Amino acid sequence: MQFTPLNDAIGARVDGVDLAADIDAADFAAIHQAWLDHCVLLFRGQDLTPGGLTNFAAKFGPLEPPPGSEKDLRADSGADEARDMWIISNVVENGKAIGALGNGEAEWHSDMTYLDVPPTASVLFGHEVPPSGANTWFANMYAAWDNMPDDLRRAVVDAQALHNSSYTSAGELRRGMDEVTDVRDAPGAVHPCVIRHPDTQRQALFLGRRTNAYIKGLEVADSEALLDRLWDYCVDKNFTYSHNWQPGDVLIWDNRSTLHRRDAFDPSARRILWRCQIAGSALPSASAA
Ligand SMILES: [Fe+2]
Repeated sequence: MQFTPLNDAIGARVDGVDLAADIDAADFAAIHQAWLDHCVLLFRGQDLTPGGLTNFAAKFGPLEPPPGSEKDLRADSGADEARDMWIISNVVENGKAIGALGNGEAEWHSDMTYLDVPPTASVLFGHEVPPSGANTWFANMYAAWDNMPDDLRRAVVDAQALHNSSYTSAGELRRGMDEVTDVRDAPGAVHPCVIRHPDTQRQALFLGRRTNAYIKGLEVADSEALLDRLWDYCVDKNFTYSHNWQPGDVLIWDNRSTLHRRDAFDPSARRILWRCQIAGSALPSASAA
């Protein structure tokens, strides 16, 4: 196996491994360490069945089934091996979307940080991808924290933020949710703005998403100003990588140390990604021992 950085900011490409084959313990240990070190791993030219994808993903930890609000979007092939696989797609068959998120832009976010225990990692497999557009972007939140100006650090180091659950990353109101009229009362979870990563012990900025975020204890206007400054800063090109998909690509990212987003794409193009999610663990604040 060879590991090659995707750029200076984040990510590595892994060559010389067939994810559909058995991966021995030593090779998996190297993959796992590279994933922690680089935050995002890319494997190209993979030929995976749903079972092959879920087998590989489950090496990183227990898989989580799709949440209740998206349950009817799961792979309904009937195959048990697809039980923990989700579909991200704009394709409509018989008048019904076969997957989530459509073809629009998706805002910067970490997955499901509106839960008390967000997932550890997400895996995507490019089953069908459009000829252009739909790039997935990643941002390195270790680097964002490590390079942050001192005044901004002081403002955020002990802060806690409310991560709202009302909208998808594509900006759609989730089923059963109400519009948010006051960010202070929005449903969701509270997390430290700077976490101590449970596996690497490194400190990382942890923002979730911008929409309806709220820094606890601040006036709303002050929270908005601080969040705007943090978001302007943390998705700078110095911290990001933009992935141009090819069929057969597999991406796995560390959901605790990264943000991601998606570019919009031609609605007449087909995009079908398979997705798995690895269950998380508690996220201690940066000041925790
Ligand atoms: Fe996401």
